[in-house]
Amino acid sequence: MTATSNLQERATASVYHPGSPLPVLASRCFKTAIVFLLIGVLAGLHMSITHDHAAHPAHAHINLLGWVTLALFGAYYAFHPAKAASKLAGIQFAIYVVGCVVLFPSLYMLVTGNASIEPVVAAGSMITFLGVILFAVIVFRED
Ligand code: HEM
Ligand code: HEM
Repeated sequence: MTATSNLQERATASVYHPGSPLPVLASRCFKTAIVFLLIGVLAGLHMSITHDHAAHPAHAHINLLGWVTLALFGAYYAFHPAKAASKLAGIQFAIYVVGCVVLFPSLYMLVTGNASIEPVVAAGSMITFLGVILFAVIVFRED
């Protein structure tokens, strides 16, 4: 085996799970997104069962930022394995998920009566926004 094909093989192995057409980062997006969907749907069921809809903004954003948007990131990375393999894409995913993890519980607490948590919600929103900006950079960047 030549040195070049060895390098190519290693690069491919770091992009894809063995035997899977899905880039590792795309799979990571979907695995994280489905956890957010489970939590978001549970919050929806909790509201329905208790007839207390106070948490609906948190429920909406867990589902829309945590599931829908993150799964769309995953779909984009699945179509662009070269971009999925870039260092910036890994950083984008990490920052976005940290933002969500800070935002969702604090937003839930805010809308269910804990007003003092607002600065944490603001911080979570800004980190999430940074993740979105990085995704925009990745989309517009030449391969
Ligand atoms: C079994 C699953 C779900 C249940 C039981 C559920 C339940 C609820 C309930 C009770 C509300 C509050 C309605 C109101 O007070 O007007 C709500 C709002 C909302 N839900 Fe869900 N939900 C579920 C799944 C989802 C999913 C998967 C999404 C998005 C992908 C979603 C998006 C929203 C949005 C955006 C709102 C806010 C709507 C508004 O403010 O007008 N929900 N949901
Ligand atoms: C960091 C990003 C985001 C921030 C800071 C944010 C902030 C907000 C705020 C302040 C509201 C008004 C809530 C209320 O009056 O109760 C709102 C409502 C809403 N947002 Fe967002 N949003 C973000 C991202 C998104 C995204 C990506 C989506 C869709 C994919 C979305 C969908 C909605 C919907 C459907 C509502 C109305 C639902 C409700 O009444 O709870 N948001 N958002």
